[in-house]
Amino acid sequence: MAWEPRSEHDTVLVISFGGQYAHMISRRVRDLGVYSEVMPYTRATREAVRARAPKALILSGGPSSVYEPNAPSIGPWVLELGVPVLGICYGHQLLAKLAGGSVERGVGEYGRTRVVLLRDDPLLEGWGKEEDVWMSHADYVASPGRGGEVLAVSEGTGYIAAMRLGDGVYGVQFHPEVRHTEKGRLLLANFLFKVAKVRPTWRVEGLAERLVEEVRGRVPEGEKALVAVSGGVDSTTAAVIAKRALGDRAVVVFVNHGLLREGEAEEVLAALRGLGLNPIYIDASERFLSALKGVTDPEQKRLIVGRLFAEVFEEVARSDPSIRWLVQGTTYPDVIESGAEPGADRIKSHHNVGGLPEMLGLGVIEPLRYFYKDEVRRLALSLGVPESIALRHPFPGPGLAVRVIGEVTEEKLRVARRASKIVEEELRRAGLYDRVWQAFAVVGDDRWVGVKGDRRALGYIVTIRVVESEDGMTADWARLPHDLLQRMASRITSEVPEVVMVTYAITTKPPSTIEPV
Ligand code: XMP
Repeated sequence: MAWEPRSEHDTVLVISFGGQYAHMISRRVRDLGVYSEVMPYTRATREAVRARAPKALILSGGPSSVYEPNAPSIGPWVLELGVPVLGICYGHQLLAKLAGGSVERGVGEYGRTRVVLLRDDPLLEGWGKEEDVWMSHADYVASPGRGGEVLAVSEGTGYIAAMRLGDGVYGVQFHPEVRHTEKGRLLLANFLFKVAKVRPTWRVEGLAERLVEEVRGRVPEGEKALVAVSGGVDSTTAAVIAKRALGDRAVVVFVNHGLLREGEAEEVLAALRGLGLNPIYIDASERFLSALKGVTDPEQKRLIVGRLFAEVFEEVARSDPSIRWLVQGTTYPDVIESGAEPGADRIKSHHNVGGLPEMLGLGVIEPLRYFYKDEVRRLALSLGVPESIALRHPFPGPGLAVRVIGEVTEEKLRVARRASKIVEEELRRAGLYDRVWQAFAVVGDDRWVGVKGDRRALGYIVTIRVVESEDGMTADWARLPHDLLQRMASRITSEVPEVVMVTYAITTKPPSTIEPV
């Protein structure tokens, strides 16, 4: 039997109405020690919700307007489920509509907004008479509907900021899950512990043995599992679990696609060996690089890398007929996203070993399918994975193929490698590496005229990208100190002679993405 956390822990169900808010809410709930799951509204029938036996429901925000044709919705049964409900932003408006209230198009409130409390309530325990919250909405609840009580309003507009619709059913127009709402965490804790009386039992650190047992239970004696590792925290943690479960029946493979960072293959191999994973190392650099020759389109590059990965793993799997399983480090957001959540467009294709299990008839085991990345990091540390891997920045599967704009050439790869190394080194030296989500350098085909000595010569433009993010879904550029940027830039132009101009990327995601292509 596959292990399901909800059979052991009080579960909060976050119903997602599109957009990227639901996982953020779910992570905040887990940070408070409560197990949570995300369910897209399209699957949230009364039966499906009941089947999960949630102790509380949270309805997320979303990009729509409740009166649009085909607006995402949920049945009025949520009001009568007998389970506490908290609607946030769109979820708040939806609750008002379901309760017979009304929602109207207003002036819009975006960013920090002051709200005034009108009434005491367990949901707002510990809040002052006035608090600053984070808003992002155009529609507003004009009347809360049956049995509704207004708990707080926005200072400027008077719009309803928080309401109670009978026993345990609440709506808030602002976003308690974002850090800018200073008492947002307190509000969520009040909802979970004071209103819903949920028990905070969720701790990933104690779960390693469970996951090991689960993998052991899935793979029958005499059969083996292929474990594809990249050296990133997810696949390495999955490999450590598989190795503990299966011993030599875990066939750990590390493929070098020639698109790794400077010194990375050696570092990863040493770390994997240190963990006793006994990896099979396949240097397929030439194969990947020759297939990428002349290819400039980003999606083509991703497809080629994905296809070649699948081919290499297929060769390994076919070489040993007892390999019947594939262990992957897929994490929770990807599991939910791959359920084709409506409204969530695939902006870039992120599949790395796409199609392999079906092609080979392998069973798939995903020991990390219930965990967020920060939870995987904690799990990794609890399993003895060194910090150099557990706290490593995410690195895309297609590697430098997505950090070199245009054709992947030896020269541009060298520039991206050297420049990225310098960015990382300087960041570590400044003690900021663990404070940012990703940090790297990008190169394309544009040139800038440089003066070296008394000669003018065209050289590459390198763009430094350093972002802060919680999950890669949204990101902000890191406000690095100017003298740190200066050190990075002058080291890059002096140590990488092909470069004459260094720029710093200062666009958030959205509208940009983190990687350049
Ligand atoms: P973007 O560039 O879409 O990136 O803002 C969001 C996060 O996803 C990573 N990323 C990828 N990971 N294969 C991967 O395995 C890919 O093709 C890919 N493209 C982007 C990116 O590094 C960031 O963490």
